Formats: sequence, structure tokens, C-alpha cells
Amino acid sequence: MNHSSINWPNDLSEKVFKQKYWQQKPVLVRNLFSKDIVKNPPITQSEIIRISQTDLVPTKCIYKGKAWHVKNGPLTPTFLKKIESNCWTILIDKINTQLTYADRFFHLFNFIDLFRLKDLMVSLSNKGGGVGPHFDSYDVFLVQAYGQKLWQLSHRFDRTFTNNPDLKILKYFKSEEEFVLNPGDVLYLPPNVAHNGIAIQDTSITYSIGLRTPNILDLTDKVFFYHMENISFDSDSLLDYKKIKPSTNPMAFSDQLANQISGKISNLFPKPAEIKKNLVKSITESDDEILDRVGNNEISFSDFHFLLGKNNLNINPSMKAIFWKDNFFYNGEELDLSTLSEKQYRIIKSLLEELIIKRMISVKSVSRIKSSCILEILFFLYQQNLVTFKHLSI
Ligand SMILES: [Fe+2]
Repeated sequence: MNHSSINWPNDLSEKVFKQKYWQQKPVLVRNLFSKDIVKNPPITQSEIIRISQTDLVPTKCIYKGKAWHVKNGPLTPTFLKKIESNCWTILIDKINTQLTYADRFFHLFNFIDLFRLKDLMVSLSNKGGGVGPHFDSYDVFLVQAYGQKLWQLSHRFDRTFTNNPDLKILKYFKSEEEFVLNPGDVLYLPPNVAHNGIAIQDTSITYSIGLRTPNILDLTDKVFFYHMENISFDSDSLLDYKKIKPSTNPMAFSDQLANQISGKISNLFPKPAEIKKNLVKSITESDDEILDRVGNNEISFSDFHFLLGKNNLNINPSMKAIFWKDNFFYNGEELDLSTLSEKQYRIIKSLLEELIIKRMISVKSVSRIKSSCILEILFFLYQQNLVTFKHLSI
């Protein structure tokens, strides 16, 4: 699986998609992934069932009897047996963090900015299964991976929900257009388009590539969080009481005191360059518990070097990283590359870019490395479990 796995049709290139549909209107792209998905699905039915029985990532089952129900995971074999005669869908969030091939498939979508890519959710339905008509506040690419699914869309719709507060299912959904998706077909939906997917046969598998819509308040919170971590406590941050005359009115808060405090607080606000740097840190944050799934063996530097000569080095699927202004940021941290020579910097940059985009550094790329400084950086990432020689599966 690589970037040539994406086959934009002649009449819908990536450029046309971005100009005409991205953030604007739904579009169905037939056979965007046909060959790969059919031959070698990145997530199989048995993996979905196995992961749904663990607590590695959030899992739930939505099923329909007289009304819609939801059961949060882990799902037990007894529960799955119980709902056999219902229409059901098992949903697993963030499955890209659990399986190397799911992560690689997910990152084929990096024709969209990496920081907008949120996660890959997989759903497995039996015939008639779905999650009910609903709308999302973010964009999504719905990839049909196995079996067929009917998708119904509505642009103007009544936002009344059914009375199950755990499920935001639209009560009065009326389909305005319909598509049947076959394996390899992809339906792009911008935010706030109501949609309803119904499996046409047993074993219908859909991958949902969810996109992040950053909320400015959340980002502000994170930017200030990183800033507060960096502020060192110095005497300048203390209030200078000597300059403040005691008030004659105990109920008053003097202007002088208010000015002194607000002035000191304003001086502590982050400057634009720091805001941007903290923003970069915040968009590379990852979930620590999920990050821990890669447990590398404790090995010496020379053993690491030896293994590197024979194996590709894979990214930990939970690692989020980008280059910004010549610095490397990963999982809310910054890797200091300032001590490297210009040549060493060029080499490590190209290796780390290969790691982020292709999700691994190939043996061939590593074989060219002569500098121990660069190998030490890779060894550091290995010790942090951010890269691994393993292929994750369940
Ligand atoms: Fe949805």
C-alpha cells in the first residue's frame, strides 16, 4: 500500500476535488482504492471482532430493535450472540492507532493537511445495520472496504432527535439522494450533511476517515497550558507591595493595585512566536495510553544499529509529528536538532519526513547513514517507543 493506491478518476482529480467539493458539498468517488482494498484489506472482519472485545480503543455497538440502542465496549461474545437477530453495527474509534496497516491506509489521506486528520473509525454491520440518520460537525471520508452499503443524504433537514439521549439520531430524516457504495468507493461529506448508511448485506465494512475541526477555545487553552509550563517563577512576578498605599476603604480595590497586577499579567502573556510554537505542540498531542501500545525491547545502541541494517523502522501509529520552522515536533514535544551540522540536519530531516509520510524508514534509506549522531536520534525515538521494528496487529 502506498500513495499510488489512490486512483483519482480522470474527471475528478485531487485538484478538482479540492476546488469543487472540499468543505463545500458531498461527492462520491468510485474505485478510489479498488485494487488494494479488495486484495489486501487493511482491517479485516476478524480483527474488528477481536479489537471490539478489548479495551484498547473506544468501541460500541449500535443496534435496532423497536428502538435504537447503544452498548459501549468491550463487547462480549455473549452480547454479540444476543443481538444476532437484530440489525447491528460495531464501531471502533482510532483503530489506526492499533494496527500498522490501518495506520498506513489512514495516512494515504494526507493529501489533506496532516494536522486535520483525526482518526480512522471502522464499522462492521450485518444486513440492514447502520447507526441511524445523523449529522456530524466535522468532515468525513467514508470508504467502503467490504460488502455494499446504501448511503442516503439530506441537505435541508429537521434537527429534532429521537428520544435516546445517548444517540443523536434524526427523528424525521428524509433521503434526498442515494448512493450504493462498493468496495473501494469513497463518499466525501462536508460537515452538517445528514446521512444514513444501511448495509445491503452481511459483513459490510466501512472505514470513516474523520477530520479534526480545531476549536479556537480548545487551542487557546492548550497554547496557554504550554506557556504556563514554560514560565519560570522569578521575583518580577511578585507584587511590589511597597509601592502600594494601604487603602482607607477596606471594601475598595484600588486602581493602582489593579494596574500593577494587570500590567504584570499582561507581561506574562505569550508573544506571537511562542503562541505559534505552542500551537504546533498542541496539534501534535497524542493519547499517552494508546501511545504505550508499542513496547520495544530494551536493547543496546549497537544492537539497535545491527537491527536497523536488516529491518524497516516503523512509526508508532500513535506518534503525531510535523516539521515546523526547521524544528521537529512530536506528541507535544520538540526535538532539538540545533546541534547538528547542516549536512546532518538535511539527512535527519529527510529520514523523519519519510517516517511521517510513508510511516516507516526503509532499510535502504538507513543504509546510507554514516553519522552516529543521526543514529542516536533514531535510537532515542526507539527508546521512547515512537518507532519500532514491529508490525502492530491484534
Ligand atoms: Fe456520520
